[in-house]
Amino acid sequence: MVNENRSKVAVIGCGFFATNHILSWSNFKDVDLVGVCDLDEERAINASNISKGTPYFTDAELMLKEVRPDVVDIVTTAPSHYHLAKLAASLNISAIIQKPMAPSLKEATKIVDLAETTKTPMMVHENFRFQQPIRDLKNFITNDNIGQHLFCKISFRTSFDIYTNQPYLKEVDQLVLMDLGVHVLDTARFLFGEATSICCRTQKTRSDIAGEDMATMMLGFSEERTAIVECTYGSKQVPDLFPETLVSVEGTNGAITLGAGYQMFKRSGEKVETINAEPSVDDWCEKPWHVVQDSVKNTCRHWIDTVPQNLKPETSVDDNLKTLKLVEAAYQSAAKGGSLVTMDN
Ligand SMILES: NC(=O)c1ccc[n+]([C@@H]2O[C@H](COP(=O)([O-])OP(=O)(O)OC[C@H]3O[C@@H](n4cnc5c(N)ncnc54)[C@H](O)[C@@H]3O)[C@@H](O)[C@H]2O)c1
Repeated sequence: MVNENRSKVAVIGCGFFATNHILSWSNFKDVDLVGVCDLDEERAINASNISKGTPYFTDAELMLKEVRPDVVDIVTTAPSHYHLAKLAASLNISAIIQKPMAPSLKEATKIVDLAETTKTPMMVHENFRFQQPIRDLKNFITNDNIGQHLFCKISFRTSFDIYTNQPYLKEVDQLVLMDLGVHVLDTARFLFGEATSICCRTQKTRSDIAGEDMATMMLGFSEERTAIVECTYGSKQVPDLFPETLVSVEGTNGAITLGAGYQMFKRSGEKVETINAEPSVDDWCEKPWHVVQDSVKNTCRHWIDTVPQNLKPETSVDDNLKTLKLVEAAYQSAAKGGSLVTMDN
C-alpha cells in the first residue's frame, strides 16, 4: 500500500557537497530516495553506494521521467540550475536548488518567473539560517529578550583550503560574495529583515584566483538598525573557526552572542546566561562539519514540512531573490570603493 505521507526525492549532482544531501534524505524515515544522478557515472555510482543502492542515472531527464519524484534536489553548480529547474517544472516536479540560485541576478529572476508561471514550488537550499545555533539566537531576539534591536554583526572568516574540494571556485569572477556572501547576507535578512541600504568593500588576498575573497559590508535597516556583515576565505587569524559563523545582536535591553565553539552568551536586562549551543552530531555526521551537516538536514526537512502541506518554504526562490539583490548591490557598491547603495524593497 502506498503511504501518502511519504515523500519521493531524487538528487541531481553527486559531487563534493551532495553527500550531505544524500545522507540527509536517506536518513529521514518518511522519505524515499528514489534516484541519484550525475553526468559522471563514477560519482553517480558512489552516491548510490552511500545510500544503500539507490538507483543511479547519468541523464537527469531520464531519471525524472522514470522515478517521478515529488521533489528534485538540484546540487549541481550554479550555471546548470536554470536549465534543471526548467526540466523539473516541465514535469510538474517541485525543486530545491542549491545556493547560489543562479550565476547572476538576471538568471535567478528567470527561475523565479518560471516557478510563478508554472506554479511549481521551488526553494533555495540556503542552509545557514537553518543552523540550530542561529535559529536559537533568532528565537531569543524575537521573544522580547533584548528590547529594541539596534545592532547585529555576522562574521565568517577563514583561510581553510576550499579550493581543493571545489576547484571551480578559483575560476569564478565573483567569488566570496556569491559563494559565502549569500549565506551571511541571508542570515542578516533572517535576523533583521530587509535592508534599506548597503555599502561594501572587497579585497583579493591571493593572485591565483579570479574573483574577490574578502568582503566587508555595512547594512542599514529601518529605525536606524545597523549590521556589519563580513566574510572571507583569506583570513589568517587563529584559531581558524571554519565552518563556524559568529553572530551577535545588541538591543536596548540586552544582547546575545554566538561565539567560538558555539558558546552562547545571553543578556536580558540584568539576567546573564552562558549556554553551549553546539548542534547535535548525527550518526552520519562528523565534527567539525556537524554544524553544516545538521543545517543541510534541517533545510531538507524544511521542504518536507512545508511544500507537501501546501505551505510556502522560508527560502522560496522569490524570497531568496532578495538575498541575491543584496549581493548585486554589494558588488555595485564595491565597484565604487564602498559607496552607499539604496535598496529598492
Ligand atoms: N550550502 C552550502 O553550505 C554549500 C557548500 C558547498 C557547496 N555548495 C553548493 O553546492 C553546489 C554544488 O557544489 P559542489 O562543490 O558539490 O560541486 P561539484 O562540482 O563537486 O559537484 C557538482 C556535480 O554536478 C554534476 N552535474 C553538473 N551538471 C549536471 C547535470 N546536468 N546532470 C547531472 N549532474 C550534473 C557534476 O558532474 C558534478 O559532479 C554549488 O551550487 C555550491 O555552491 C553549498
